[in-house]
Amino acid sequence: MSRQKILVTRSFFQDILTGLTDQFDTVIWPEKEPPPYRWVLNNIMDADGLITTLADKIDEQIITTGLQHKLQVISQIAVGFDNIAVNTATAHKLPIGHTPGVLTETTADFAWALIMASARRIVETHNEVQRHIWRAWGPEVLCGMDIYGATLGLIGFGRIGKAMARRAAGFNMKVLYYEPTRKPENEIIKNAQYATLEELLRGSDFVSLHAYLSPATTRIIGYKQLDLMKKTAFLINTARGAMIDHDALVNAVENHKIAGAALDVFGPEPIPQDHPLLKMSNVIITPHIASSTTVTRRRMAAMTVENILAGLDGKRLPYCANPEIYNEM
Ligand code: DGY
Repeated sequence: MSRQKILVTRSFFQDILTGLTDQFDTVIWPEKEPPPYRWVLNNIMDADGLITTLADKIDEQIITTGLQHKLQVISQIAVGFDNIAVNTATAHKLPIGHTPGVLTETTADFAWALIMASARRIVETHNEVQRHIWRAWGPEVLCGMDIYGATLGLIGFGRIGKAMARRAAGFNMKVLYYEPTRKPENEIIKNAQYATLEELLRGSDFVSLHAYLSPATTRIIGYKQLDLMKKTAFLINTARGAMIDHDALVNAVENHKIAGAALDVFGPEPIPQDHPLLKMSNVIITPHIASSTTVTRRRMAAMTVENILAGLDGKRLPYCANPEIYNEM
């Protein structure tokens, strides 16, 4: 019997991948950049399983082409799966795996680091020291913003949003949260209070995005929303770049409508090298690394392998992004 074939769009931890390369025929894209769309489309024609990253566009054409042949499962090494045409997959009962839960605290740690770095101007001041601009201590030199006792506004209040609220308790912060669909189970969380988006934007010193990308959250921050924010407030994004209108953000920072921003995500990634945000000393940009610790990324890789193995064996995926496909089975 011929071995099943897995298409892998990015190589990862060799010792974890070996579990697959030993048992299956694997075709692994060897470069650091994502493979061309055409490469995925050509190779999906004889693949039983597909391992993807959030940088791959897995649209209806790739899914239906795969399904016309042998495709049984897609397993993504990320919790978010907005790059995949999930509705098409669900309509055909094709399971999509993802990696929820394991990156919650790691991502919240990083969002917190961005809050601290923005408020206390850590990147900007480091750059000044490096450029020998530091002369002496002075009472007004590079004053930042207090975090302790400030108000944190969380857009999205799922696992990561709640992990942010827990951290905020240690800093004696007031926490406001907004979610497009208000959930009764969130009302009982002690240190966080529901607010409309407008109330949150008007009242927060730090606005941090923690939602899934959906039609309701795409460009949720634009000109109108930035106008509502305090002039002293910072915008933090570790979710998805498409949630922010970046032209509006440039305008807001240039015109001092907000104090600054810290973005770990952009849309599309990477941010163009000549983008005006890269020239602003009060904007921090990092390369989509909020979940990037070795422990967490290894856990994500292991879950990705568990999902693909289950799917290829015709079993229910342990971490499934579209579990509704199992409802009528
Ligand atoms: C995800 O998993 O969706 C993050 O954006 C990357 O870890």
